[in-house]
Amino acid sequence: MTADAPLVLGIETSCDETGVGIVRGHTLLADAVASSVDEHARFGGVVPEVASRAHLEAMVPTIERACATAGIRPYDVDAIAVTSGPGLAGALLVGVAAAKALAFALGKPIYGVNHLAAHVAVDQLEHGPLPEPAIAMLVSGGHSSLLRITDVTTGVEPMGATIDDAAGEAFDKVARLLGLGFPGGPVIDREARSGSSVAIDFPRGLTARHDLERHRFDFSFSGLKTAVARWVEARERSGEPVPVADVAASFQEAVCDVLVRKALDAASSEGIEDIVIGGGVAANSRLRVLAEDRAASLGIRVRVPRPGLCTDNGAMVAALGSEMVARGRTPSALDLPADSSQPITSVLV
Ligand code: KG4
Ligand code: ZN
Repeated sequence: MTADAPLVLGIETSCDETGVGIVRGHTLLADAVASSVDEHARFGGVVPEVASRAHLEAMVPTIERACATAGIRPYDVDAIAVTSGPGLAGALLVGVAAAKALAFALGKPIYGVNHLAAHVAVDQLEHGPLPEPAIAMLVSGGHSSLLRITDVTTGVEPMGATIDDAAGEAFDKVARLLGLGFPGGPVIDREARSGSSVAIDFPRGLTARHDLERHRFDFSFSGLKTAVARWVEARERSGEPVPVADVAASFQEAVCDVLVRKALDAASSEGIEDIVIGGGVAANSRLRVLAEDRAASLGIRVRVPRPGLCTDNGAMVAALGSEMVARGRTPSALDLPADSSQPITSVLV
């Protein structure tokens, strides 16, 4: 760590995690997260109003906790970064308002950054400067995209995305129909360990030859989710017990197989040798192993941050903010908007 690298505080409130991260250059100093996930569990999904209220209550204590962990005072920071979108409108507003107040009070620049690009940038806190160009695969509860990255602060080009459910959404819905609770990804990951991934041959969306013509780098998980529901229903109708671990493992294999195949195809087609995987689903243990195994045989390198940095957090926002400062990008105006549908091509507002 160089002492003169910028000290950046990042704020994340796009969904149900209030995250405040502090980085100096590529060094992570604090990553404080307060989650309202327990308050949403009984609804089987995030309730936007509940999330916004929880952000409001958690914001100041989480900022204080991050500063205490990093051993800094707010006056020490060189810049504030905040997720300006995409995400839940009311939730984003809380983070953006807090960031503006801090930036204004401290007289420091503010950077309103894209949540999805932040999921990619966070990897440099663990593995050093991002390889550029790289293929990024972003798989979270709200998004599943393949991106071509030439410069993480300006050059993010979409190659493909889900045409229906996001990968994390599929995990959440399948967990729900198996009665496994919310969020679904971590429980399916755990259940799958004692099941067989080849027990049931679930469909691989958008991999048939005729689909590849139009949707080579796109994903579809809604047919898979329906196939799992039908399979479970048939089993219940016949009065046989549902082998939950086998269903979880076979479903997980279908998702990971398609994700890895398409990411590798994107890299090969562009002649790019580095893939960065980010977002909550990147925490999946099977996805991590499958991606590394298959990539290694093609001479492609895969970088995935540790699971705690894959799910939403403030460090990822600080990491992208730090890159904005390092690359001399113009800060956002103090009246920057929160944009719930901010496109991935807009990395900095
Ligand atoms: O990135 P994230 O924390 O929030 C969004 O921006 O959406 O991703 C949350 C999603 C949820 O759908 C959750 O079920 C999924 O990531 N997830 C996982 C795992 N851990 C979290 N999916 C599969 N395996 C996991 N281990
Ligand atoms: Zn996210």
